[in-house]
Amino acid sequence: GAASKGEYRHFMQKEIFEQPAVIAAALEGRLGERSVPSECFGPDAEALFSRVEQLHIVACGTSYHAGLVARYWLERYAGIPVQVEVASEYRYRTVVVPDNTLFVTLSQSGETADTLAALRFAREQGYLGSLAICNVPGSSLVRESDLTLMTQAGPEIGVASTKAFTTQLTALMLFTLALGRVKGLDAETQAEVVAGLRGLPQLVSRVLELDDAIESLSTEFAEKHHALFLGRGAHFPIALEGALKLKEISYIHAEAYPAGELKHGPLALVDSEMPVVSVAPNDELLDKLKSNLQEVRARGGELFVFADERVGIEAQEGVRVLSLPHVHDALAPILYTVPLQLLSYHVAVLKGTDVDQPRNLAKSVTVE
Ligand code: G6P
Repeated sequence: GAASKGEYRHFMQKEIFEQPAVIAAALEGRLGERSVPSECFGPDAEALFSRVEQLHIVACGTSYHAGLVARYWLERYAGIPVQVEVASEYRYRTVVVPDNTLFVTLSQSGETADTLAALRFAREQGYLGSLAICNVPGSSLVRESDLTLMTQAGPEIGVASTKAFTTQLTALMLFTLALGRVKGLDAETQAEVVAGLRGLPQLVSRVLELDDAIESLSTEFAEKHHALFLGRGAHFPIALEGALKLKEISYIHAEAYPAGELKHGPLALVDSEMPVVSVAPNDELLDKLKSNLQEVRARGGELFVFADERVGIEAQEGVRVLSLPHVHDALAPILYTVPLQLLSYHVAVLKGTDVDQPRNLAKSVTVE
C-alpha cells in the first residue's frame, strides 16, 4: 500500500527511487508532440496565459527552491519577469503588483499555513489570477486557486521532500513551455525540451545507479560539522536544496552559495574540514565554475563534484568526481537534484539519525 516501505529501509529512500516513475506520471498526458498545450492547467488557462506579463511565485522550504529554479526557466524561455519569495515574508509586506501579474503558489501539501495565507492576501492585491502547483488534490490551496496543476508524486511520507520537489520542477517546466509557446518561444527549442522531458525518467534511473558510489562518498561527510554547496545559474537553487537536505536529516550545518560569490566571504571558511560539493552540468557557466573550484582547491578544500560526463573535470588529489549522463541544459537542475538527495540520505544513515522524522521538523507546517 501507499504507506509501506517495501524493500526500502526508509520512506525517504523509497521516495528517491520512485522518481523515474513519478516524473513520468507528472508528464503523463501533458506533452504534445513538439510543445506543451495549456489544457492541463484548466480550460481557462490559454486565455489567461496570453494576458500574463509578470509572475509572482510564493512558497516555503523545498517548494521555494523549486520556485527559484523556475525563475531561471521562465525568464529564459517565456521572457516574463518573475519574482520568487518565501510566503512568510511575502504575506507581511507591502507588495507592488504590476498589471497582469499571475500569482503562483508551490506546495507539496497544499496546507502550509504561510503559503495559504499568502494566497488569501494575494486575492486582495489585484492579480490577474492564481495558479497552484500542488501534490495533494482537494487541499486548501488547490480549492482556493483559479488554475491548478497537480504534481502526481503520490503520498510523500519522509519529512525531507524529494520526489515532491523533482515533480514540482517537472510541472514548472511544463508551465514554462506552455507559457513560452503563448509568448513566442521558438518551435525548435520547445520541441527539444519536450523531447528532453520524454527521456528524463530514463536519465533519472541512470543517476540512481550511482547510489553505491555516492554511499561511499558519504563517509567523508559523516564526521564533519560544516559543508558548502556551490552551483551557478539554475543550479544555485539546486545547491540550496542540497544544503537544506543535508541540514534537515543529518544535522550537519550546510550552506549554499552561487559559486561566483565564493570570494565575497565563504572562501575564508574553506579548509580540509569543510567539504565542498559542486554541481557542474555542461552549461555556459562551466568555465567560470571550474575556476571557482580551483580557488577552493588552492585553499586545501576537499571537493566533491557532480559533473556532466562530457565536461572533462578530472579527479585528482582532493577532487572526487562523479559523472552524470548528459542532459539537455534546461533539464539539468532536475537531474542534479538526485545525487544530492542520495548524498544526504547516506550521510544521515551513517550518522544514525531518524531519517524520515528529523528532530524538530514537521511534514506540513499548518500553523504559523
Ligand atoms: C516543511 C517540510 C518541507 C517542505 C515545507 C513546505 O518544512 O518539512 O519538506 O518543503 O514544509 O511544504 P509544502 O507542503 O508547502 O511544500
